[in-house]
Amino acid sequence: MNIIITGLQWGDEGKGKIVDYLTESADVIIRAQGGNNAGHTVITGNDKYVLHLLPSGILWNAKTNVIGNGVVIDPAGLVQEIERIETKGIAITPNKLLISDRAHVVLPCHKELDAAREAALGDQKIGTTKRGIGPAYADKINRCGLRMADLMDREFATAQITRRVAEANAVLALHDLTIFDAGQVIDEVLTAFERLRPHITNTIPILHAAWKSGKSLLFEGAQGTLLDIDFGTYPFVTSSNTTAGGSCTGSGLPPTAIDAVIGVCKAYTTRVGSGPFPTGDQGLSDFLHGLGREFGATTGRPRGCGWLDTVLLRFACMVNGVTGLAVTNVDGLDAYETLQICTAYDVGDEIHTLPPADRSAWARAVPVYETLPGWQCDTTSVTSYQQLPERTKSYLNRLGQLCGVPVAFVGVGPDRKQTLVVP
Ligand code: IMP
Repeated sequence: MNIIITGLQWGDEGKGKIVDYLTESADVIIRAQGGNNAGHTVITGNDKYVLHLLPSGILWNAKTNVIGNGVVIDPAGLVQEIERIETKGIAITPNKLLISDRAHVVLPCHKELDAAREAALGDQKIGTTKRGIGPAYADKINRCGLRMADLMDREFATAQITRRVAEANAVLALHDLTIFDAGQVIDEVLTAFERLRPHITNTIPILHAAWKSGKSLLFEGAQGTLLDIDFGTYPFVTSSNTTAGGSCTGSGLPPTAIDAVIGVCKAYTTRVGSGPFPTGDQGLSDFLHGLGREFGATTGRPRGCGWLDTVLLRFACMVNGVTGLAVTNVDGLDAYETLQICTAYDVGDEIHTLPPADRSAWARAVPVYETLPGWQCDTTSVTSYQQLPERTKSYLNRLGQLCGVPVAFVGVGPDRKQTLVVP
């Protein structure tokens, strides 16, 4: 069974936890897009791991983990991440982690260009993670990027990095920002590359062989549908296809290899960065932050919080081909008295049941809410779906109904044991 796990909101839906849960029955876990802008938190017993580029399967023995061609890799950042995990006693051997030789490289100057562009945008800024993701993907599309395979040839890599640093310096100088020393950049990138070299390979035939031999593949999506470069709230998006199709183009496995798509969403909505957020609600934000919830795993930023938005979820289910929903963080709403679900947007002259493309409609969108009673009891110790309060089940059923997809998993806490399977 080959499954794609995809985020249905603006990222941070708790995909890491669902991936971790499904990893038990998977053989190969694949990251196919994004970079170390992602932050997946996995909690097992007393241990908490925050993963950025490494697939969550790295925490298990005897699983193969693949970073596919669609990912952009900051070599020094990946080495640090590997070392951090290894200090916790988890060995990362070349057999356990395979890195595509076609994956593109994030250079230190990409990060600075990311920051420079954000500064230039002023109050129109995207709110990026400043990890150089946009500039690295821009180089890829502009056909001037550097791939892992290119770093194998030291002479070629040195010439390419020197050229790219000179171009970046010309832009940075205009903004009075730090100018890079090409020699230092070459040294940093190639030193990190040597540490990664044993892991780098042509991952495509390996993935096909695994598929053909009946192994189970699990695609671990990063970010979420509303951050997708095509389907998201453009321009307030990331620079990759975060939706299910990106799993194929970012790995070399075809759509015919996919058996199911699990869409992950929170029981409410959150977003970091800028851009439209019609159901954003200060009261709910204060409440969840007061519980110590909803601070970013990568940047520590408090996330904006809001009510469940089924206009977005309906669209996300469409474009991803979601076959089952995983609803996480249900316990976050345990204490709330009344809950709201947005079913449509009132944009003045018409009602939208799918997200608009134009910015002015976003600016005018007023959520149309349905009110449901809260369950007001603790769900964190519930161990089966049947034990959930009837009001929680009604809320989840309504969510599934409004999206046209059944709820398959429910998350009531961060631990592996707190994932409930809907019978
Ligand atoms: P970038 O991917 O760093 O270029 O950031 C673009 C937008 O995507 C910003 O709004 C970021 O906050 C958002 N973003 C990127 N990665 C994540 C993530 O893993 N979770 C949530 N938001 C993200």
